[in-house]
Amino acid sequence: MIRRPRRLRSNAIVRDMVRETRLNTDAFVYPMFVVEGEKIKNEISSMPGNYHFSIDLLIEEVGYLIDLGIKIIMLFGIPNHKDECGSGAYMPDGIIQKAVRALKEKYNNQIYIITDVCLCEYTSTGHCGLIKGETVDNDSTLPLLSKTALSHVQAGADMVAPSDMMDGRIGHMRKTLDEHGYENVPIMAYSAKYASAYYGPFREAADSAPQFGDRKSYQMDPANSREALVEAKLDLEEGADIVMVKPALAYLDIITKIKDISDVPVAAYNVSGEYSMLKMAIKEGLMSEDVIVETLISIQRAGADIILTYFAKEIMEKLR
Ligand code: PBG
Ligand code: ZN
Repeated sequence: MIRRPRRLRSNAIVRDMVRETRLNTDAFVYPMFVVEGEKIKNEISSMPGNYHFSIDLLIEEVGYLIDLGIKIIMLFGIPNHKDECGSGAYMPDGIIQKAVRALKEKYNNQIYIITDVCLCEYTSTGHCGLIKGETVDNDSTLPLLSKTALSHVQAGADMVAPSDMMDGRIGHMRKTLDEHGYENVPIMAYSAKYASAYYGPFREAADSAPQFGDRKSYQMDPANSREALVEAKLDLEEGADIVMVKPALAYLDIITKIKDISDVPVAAYNVSGEYSMLKMAIKEGLMSEDVIVETLISIQRAGADIILTYFAKEIMEKLR
């Protein structure tokens, strides 16, 4: 044998030397859930280790995260009040707007805040847009999404991340932000967002399950991959600064394909179901904790530059 690949696996030093992918913790985005009220830190039963925080305790937790070395968070809001047009999403004193203002007042640029822009946590229908007839209406939803993004940025958000999957929303949002002088605020587009059962635990966490039907008329069919390229290209043409694939694990091929055509960074969302299935398996003793880094490395190896993951905190705790 001339070639013996095992030569470069013989000890830890040589393995470290030839390692092709290293987990980039600088590119972790840690998602968090904020609720109205005070002194609330309630564990989310479907996502062990994640919490609903009221703003006062969110501020404390973010202080701890900053000490850990987490620099980027993604915020989801759970309002007290829902209505048909999701007005809680774009109220100047909505839950996200208040949380962003409070965090920025306390920590300024020590924390980079990305806000998820969607209506489903705020609509009584649980859908990501306005209902007309039997379906979510695309074009009348766009101004509400843009208004939501603008209100987040006015509160101090560093980046907005629309997750609704309406057609044309990136262009609409870019125009709105630019018209208000926010041409330097980036948009991370949930570009290839699939209609996935892996969002199950999140919908309990965010109380955002559709009250009728499903999201298949706007989120993508899991069977499609060329269509993901169409979505990513449209978002790039409309001005997306980062394109995202979601979920990550069942869609590693999509991450690789989008990476090949994208001239901007590619993000992947390691979603709630992917998190909770590993957490439960580790808890039951079926797999060791090593599965966490192995999984996140696979997402990076597939081509993701940025990973949104509920594991960010515990990985940083272990690395400390
Ligand atoms: C809202 C939104 C969802 C997620 C992120 N933003 C849920 C959905 O589309 O139903 C999922 C996140 C996760 O599962 O971790 N549009
Ligand atoms: Zn939504």
